Amino acid sequence: MTDEEIFEEEIEEFSAELKERIGALEGMNERLLDEARQNEGEKRYIKSEMVRLQKEIQRLRFELDRMKTPPMIIGTIKDVLTDGRVVVKSSTGPDFIVTTAEYISPENVIVGARVALNKQSLAVVGVLPASLDPIVLGGEVIDRPEISYEDIGGLEDQMREIREAVEDPLLKPELYKKVGIDPPKGVLLVGPPGTGKTMLAKAVAHQTNATFIKFVGSELVQKYIGEGARLVRELFDMAREKAPTIVFIDELDSVGAKRLEVATSGDREVQRTLMQLLAELDGFDSLENVKIIGATNRPDILDDALLRPGRFDRIITIPVPNYVARGEIFKIHTRKMSVAKDVNFEELASRTDGVSGADIKAICTEAGMFAIREDRTKVKMLDFNNAVVKVMVVDADTIGESAHMFA
Ligand SMILES: Nc1ncnc2c1ncn2[C@@H]1O[C@H](COP(=O)(O)OP(=O)(O)OP(=O)(O)O)[C@@H](O)[C@H]1O
Ligand SMILES: [Mg+2]
Repeated sequence: MTDEEIFEEEIEEFSAELKERIGALEGMNERLLDEARQNEGEKRYIKSEMVRLQKEIQRLRFELDRMKTPPMIIGTIKDVLTDGRVVVKSSTGPDFIVTTAEYISPENVIVGARVALNKQSLAVVGVLPASLDPIVLGGEVIDRPEISYEDIGGLEDQMREIREAVEDPLLKPELYKKVGIDPPKGVLLVGPPGTGKTMLAKAVAHQTNATFIKFVGSELVQKYIGEGARLVRELFDMAREKAPTIVFIDELDSVGAKRLEVATSGDREVQRTLMQLLAELDGFDSLENVKIIGATNRPDILDDALLRPGRFDRIITIPVPNYVARGEIFKIHTRKMSVAKDVNFEELASRTDGVSGADIKAICTEAGMFAIREDRTKVKMLDFNNAVVKVMVVDADTIGESAHMFA
């Protein structure tokens, strides 16, 4: 081999080696590029994660701050002094003279407004919207009951009276102005249990376009001192706000019982509620457009003050149904029943002297039960006769009692 040949061989070897190394380097370069790309992606992900965590930190800090702010005291403004300071009554007891925060606009700082007070300085830091108790808000009847005047047997005179006293003043106030009398403020329905007092009020609610607020007297009797009176006040506030309004207070005797000399603290709370009710009925704030219907089956225990003219101006007595009314009530309650031809409502009416409308309903239901017991779908006179006996025996005692009360 010549030198030249050796040299060429070496060159070839060398170039092969170089090629190999270039190949290796290219491979490495690709790997690194890949890695770089991957790292780039990771970086982006971490950055976004960081932003997210920073936001979270911010949120938690904010939450922490919120938790750390001291509670504010609720108070009521009693007076606004000429120098801009106000007298507040807080729930803690005594009255304080305090300043108001600058950012509260002066027109909101009025006597009677509910305000938030700083815990340390008792400065007014916020004016709260006037609130109504959820119990009061729940009193408004939104779905009208399905009972109409046609569903009530007898009681035509009473229906006319209640409409005159409640609906007409709301719908035609000019009539009263022309005649020159104040329209009645309210009516009181009194009568033995089960004679249709609640039903009559429901029918008024069904028929009227006015807002209807319904309350059971016992709901106004509350646990804490002054609560009942506040409820009554808020109830009438809402009534005035949503006028024209009819306020119905059922079972009025539970707040309207006679005030006694000796009384427990519970009685006194009920009395305070009653006094608030009397004050509202007297209405320093006009009660135009708000009519009140009360109902009770114990007029004998009602406080005289409730009954004097100017409050419940009209006492409407709902009597135990007479012969004609009983026949009508029987017809009303059998409207949806499948009744055999032999059923004679006149005879049933004459045999049920002294029973109430509720009893008649019970008799009809019982008669239906007797028919079902014998696997019939038509209710016969015999079923009614049995039902009359059954219901009237059960009821004999209670009728005796209430009859002498309303005599
Ligand atoms: N005049 C009537 N016509 C038709 N149904 C009547 C009549 N009176 C009473 N009823 C029936 O009796 C039920 C009870 O009547 P309601 O609740 O009005 O009695 P109430 O007078 O309010 O009694 P309480 O004094 O016990 O509250 C009614 O749901 C109705 O089915
Ligand atoms: Mg009732």
